[in-house]
Amino acid sequence: MEGYSYGMVGLGVMGRNLLYNIADHGFSIAGFDLDEEKIKELQNGATSGMKVKGTGSLEDFVSVLETPRKIILMVPAGKPVDAVLESITPLLSKGDIVIDAGNSYFEDTNRRIADLASKNLHFMGMGVSGGEKGARTGPSIMPGGDLEAFTQLKPMLEAISAKVNDEACTAYMGKGSAGNYVKMVHNGIEYAIMQLISEAYDLLKRGANLNNDQLYEVFKEWNNGEMNSFLIEITRDIFQQKDSLTDNYLVDQILDMAGAKGTGKWTSEQAMEIGVSIPTIDIAVTSRILSAYKDERIQASQLYSEKEIVSPEDIDLFIKEVGDALFLATLISYAQGLALLVKASEEYNFEIPLKDVVKIWRGGCIIRSVLLEKFYSAYTQDPNLSNILLDQDIALLVKSKIKGLRKIAGYATTNGISSLGLQTALGYFDAYTTESLPVNLIQAQRDYFGAHTYQRIDREGVFHTSWQSANN
Ligand code: 6PG
Repeated sequence: MEGYSYGMVGLGVMGRNLLYNIADHGFSIAGFDLDEEKIKELQNGATSGMKVKGTGSLEDFVSVLETPRKIILMVPAGKPVDAVLESITPLLSKGDIVIDAGNSYFEDTNRRIADLASKNLHFMGMGVSGGEKGARTGPSIMPGGDLEAFTQLKPMLEAISAKVNDEACTAYMGKGSAGNYVKMVHNGIEYAIMQLISEAYDLLKRGANLNNDQLYEVFKEWNNGEMNSFLIEITRDIFQQKDSLTDNYLVDQILDMAGAKGTGKWTSEQAMEIGVSIPTIDIAVTSRILSAYKDERIQASQLYSEKEIVSPEDIDLFIKEVGDALFLATLISYAQGLALLVKASEEYNFEIPLKDVVKIWRGGCIIRSVLLEKFYSAYTQDPNLSNILLDQDIALLVKSKIKGLRKIAGYATTNGISSLGLQTALGYFDAYTTESLPVNLIQAQRDYFGAHTYQRIDREGVFHTSWQSANN
């Protein structure tokens, strides 16, 4: 019997869609799930040219795969991945490859790589972005780790991924668990951009009193120009969606409490851990946390109800400035995430090719945008750029938008419209572009109360002073 070239464990929406995508490109693939319904769904949804098989037992699944087996896991991150590995690894043979395509924590991947290596098996962490539609029609795929395993998978990954200018949105992201790390940071940036878009929405809605039809038009125009991106595009469409239960627009019926599965939090924790400043991503994570305190927010809004919003005089100019503010704050969020990747690459010896990261984010993934094309040019010129804000062409772009960001941040502050993402992006930019920060004073304070020492601007060495108290 001729075997199947690939295997997929987990036939939920993502697993099934990725499986069909693989089958669409001429690769035979068997799926495994404990849920019989999902196996039926898989069989029923397969089209005639596909060589697809659903199995309900791991033994059957493993036995129909060609060796070396190439098994993709699409199961929830954490314990489910370990549970699958525990049951499947005894059935595998030397040289088989297991690829974890979920949003796993990179340290878990490191542990699993070592564990499977001790059993002569290959294990790879591979980020996949694009949601269910992306999985089916062309996601952005971020594999890393085992080069031998990657080489075997490469033709299939290139076939199934999204394409931009005929170039596949997949590439080797670096050693070890780099694939998961890059995907984690992708999600951190995703959190930041979503936060910023929600703030732009709030400013246009409560500041300029735009209704959903007008918001649709604004986002449509933005998406037709330099702000073209997946997240702007879906936001545009959200403003048109009517509710099926009431006569209202659906967006107005949705409770303002944001969920989160954890990848944004991991990104922030990582940045703190290895010492990288990513405040716009941090604030996006913490804003979702704050949103969950709905009852307290209601109480506080009644207690501090003095806010009065004054609409801007020139609405067209205001909309343009909100667009500029959103564009620039988005750019700064990418800059923060990419700076984290630069540091992580050194810290963990990942050797992440930044140029390839932005190249494969241009299509398929949630944070795809035309702006990434500019980053791609920047990294093509200088692959070792430590921060995208240091590129000359990016600097010109930033300078053309900064006025809008300053004006909108000022407007939001004056009118009491929370704009944490925009404010932190601007604050980060101002700090990053300041030659002399006031932290000389912090160093003085640290030395004053804790003898923590300081360095001087005029001579080498480490100094401590017995500071004079004004009360002496
Ligand atoms: C993607 C997304 C996806 C992520 C969801 C949910 O790239 O396709 O990033 O991987 O899991 O967007 O994320 P939160 O529930 O944490 O918002």
